[in-house]
Amino acid sequence: MDKRPTTKLFLDSGNPTDTQKAIDLLGYLDGQTTNPSLVAQNPEINMKLTNGTRLSENELLEEYRKIIQDIKKIIPEGSISIEVYADLETKSEQMIKQALEFNEWIENAHIKLPTNKEGLIAARELSISGVNLNMTLCFSQQQAAAVYSATKVASSSSVYVSPFIGRLDDIGLQGVDLIANIKQMYENSDHHVELLAASVRNIKQFLYCLYLQVDIITAPLKVYEEWAKLNKTLPGIDLDPAQFMDMGEYLDTKHLQQMQYEEVDLNKSPELYEISHELTTKGIVKFAQDWNALLGK
Ligand code: E4P
Repeated sequence: MDKRPTTKLFLDSGNPTDTQKAIDLLGYLDGQTTNPSLVAQNPEINMKLTNGTRLSENELLEEYRKIIQDIKKIIPEGSISIEVYADLETKSEQMIKQALEFNEWIENAHIKLPTNKEGLIAARELSISGVNLNMTLCFSQQQAAAVYSATKVASSSSVYVSPFIGRLDDIGLQGVDLIANIKQMYENSDHHVELLAASVRNIKQFLYCLYLQVDIITAPLKVYEEWAKLNKTLPGIDLDPAQFMDMGEYLDTKHLQQMQYEEVDLNKSPELYEISHELTTKGIVKFAQDWNALLGK
């Protein structure tokens, strides 16, 4: 592939076999994101779960490390996101400890932390130490502003914020609006936080994010397969703006409610933003459950 879109394309999967398949479809891949639920779906780990085998914490971490290192072999230059274990009781110190350990697994890791109070405290500390971060489970502009503020001290670390489109759609909101709103909010910023569109479930959401020219999109293999089936040139070759003239048709305006843009001051202290969100809480609980199921808890 000789041309690529300005938007970086990541795969959302805990399975290294998918990494190669995505490269076969796209011709390249800029990175990969994982999370506890995706690790639980990894075929080898899933088989253990189905067979009733339960892993110790060390064994599970060893499996996770192996998955990450296998992905790394396929995309040596790519960023790979590794998520810390967090439940609603997890303190920033515990997240920091895991982050520092996972950061040793590979070069170019982005450590995923939840966008809650403890995650933001950890993010501040880790960004000062130069650890690359991916702030996950983001569902509002206020949370994205808090990420910006908490990591503004960052010297060399690269910071992503991951707003979740599909999960907003699930509760009747137009998830891609949040992506557009955060992009607009960050327009007059120092741009140290990159916008990573996550929880992309279908080709329309994917195309819309390309149209918005977000920094990064992470999408599951099935979305790249859908793109390939459209029989169009793969992303990067035919990014003719005319192709996106009528993006309105990509939005489900009938069933989903628009998310309004909010004026948010990016220059406040992180603790002054309204960061609590029911979907963040729900997401943390679900990730913890999926991880604990592998441990037989
Ligand atoms: C990626 O970083 C996210 O964890 C992932 O996109 C979540 O997707 P889902 O809402 O489909 O689980």
